Amino acid sequence: MLIFGHRGASGYAPENTLAAFELALEQGCTALELDVQLTRDEQLVVIHDFWVDRTTNGTGLVREMELEQIRQLDAGAWYDAKFAGEKIPTLEEVLNLVPEHILLNLELKIIPRMRGNIEQLVIDLLMSKNRQHQVIISSFDHSAIQIVQEYLPEIKTGLLLYGQLLDLPKYINANELDLFSIHPAYPYLTEHTVAVLNRLKKPIYTYTVNRSEDLGWCYQYGVDGVITDYPDQAQKLLEVY
Ligand code: G3P
Ligand code: CA
Repeated sequence: MLIFGHRGASGYAPENTLAAFELALEQGCTALELDVQLTRDEQLVVIHDFWVDRTTNGTGLVREMELEQIRQLDAGAWYDAKFAGEKIPTLEEVLNLVPEHILLNLELKIIPRMRGNIEQLVIDLLMSKNRQHQVIISSFDHSAIQIVQEYLPEIKTGLLLYGQLLDLPKYINANELDLFSIHPAYPYLTEHTVAVLNRLKKPIYTYTVNRSEDLGWCYQYGVDGVITDYPDQAQKLLEVY
């Protein structure tokens, strides 16, 4: 089972910061999940919420802020004083930090009416650094997946699901989604839904699985990967199985 560090090792360090990604790598994580957004000046930054308020000392909508403003913010102190000074990283900084063999699950966070051209910018950056191979681009915004596919058909894409789609194969066909993987929310997974998803013959990577009993369940029912805030604990548990 593949273990993705969710926003890095975000159970131990402020999410989506270089500190959280470094820690996940130190813990032996071979796959990372992170959230990517666009600033007003069309720079790619790594942050989960559309607003900076929860995870920084600032206030405002990421999409309405310039990179320079965003770089002034402290993205670590809210979590623990020992992380004071951590910044919201750019996607490029994360690529520079993370070795090429690590699988990166880049989740595009998009406000539809302010979408800009995030898909193209992400792909251009990946290609300029020759990092387009060990990457899955995922999004709850499935039109982003279509755009990514059109722009670079060989790149891996992951379908992020929150609820349950009644007829997922039909949905995938109707929207001509050429997917690498399916990323369902763990609370919606049952033995039956795993069996249905398995018929698609694509890896299932579920989120966010933090409790040992839930990790055990995923292992037992053949889920291919988990996205977790505690990658070290998931790894230890798997060693027991
Ligand atoms: O990519 C899986 C998971 O991160 C999606 O939910 O809200 O944690 O970004 P969220
Ligand atoms: Ca995410």
